[in-house]
Amino acid sequence: MNLPEYPSAFLQLADELAEHGWAQCHNFLPQSLTAQLAEECRRRDKQGLLAPAGTGRGDALAVREGVRSDHIQWLEAGQSAATDSYLAHLDNLRRFLNQSFYLGLEDYESHFALYPPGAFYLRHLDRFRDDDRRTLSAVFYLNPQWDPADGGALRLYLASGELDVWPEAGTLVLFRSADVLHEVLVNRRERLSLTGWFRRRGD
Ligand code: OGA
Ligand code: MN
Repeated sequence: MNLPEYPSAFLQLADELAEHGWAQCHNFLPQSLTAQLAEECRRRDKQGLLAPAGTGRGDALAVREGVRSDHIQWLEAGQSAATDSYLAHLDNLRRFLNQSFYLGLEDYESHFALYPPGAFYLRHLDRFRDDDRRTLSAVFYLNPQWDPADGGALRLYLASGELDVWPEAGTLVLFRSADVLHEVLVNRRERLSLTGWFRRRGD
């Protein structure tokens, strides 16, 4: 049988995810691509394409500034070479995770997120109450030389305790959408990311 070649980082991510319910990988993408994605996020912001993010879904979707204060724009195929390349890498990871876990992940939805200084996202779960398709959350960070003094950690609430991930450029973090509570702590410096969800078919 001819198995496609996957980066070795995928195997490590899958192992950690199976064991702990979350995983992270530093330098997930080539630095040049990560830098292009950061530049694109800033350019879209300057063009006024990023909008205050909502919470909830369908009729319940609303902007609640006391809950989250990031600005987002959803990715679509064909927007740029850099975002298409990002989506291709994540689709490759999706196929690998399906082979490893038989998760039946069908697609990946993703948006740029910009947290201005002072922004945050209070503790929450990523899976909606009335839609169980979101299975794995995947966040890719775009901030070179993040300093712990800049705040803005992603705090995961795991059975083993709290754990902070710094939003350093090149880091990808994966966690189970249905049961990993998490929050984004207040940041003191602009914080850029691509946040997304691997989804399976709905019931
Ligand atoms: C989200 C989220 C985490 C992060 O957008 O749902 O939890 O670190 N983001 O940006
Ligand atoms: Mn979240």
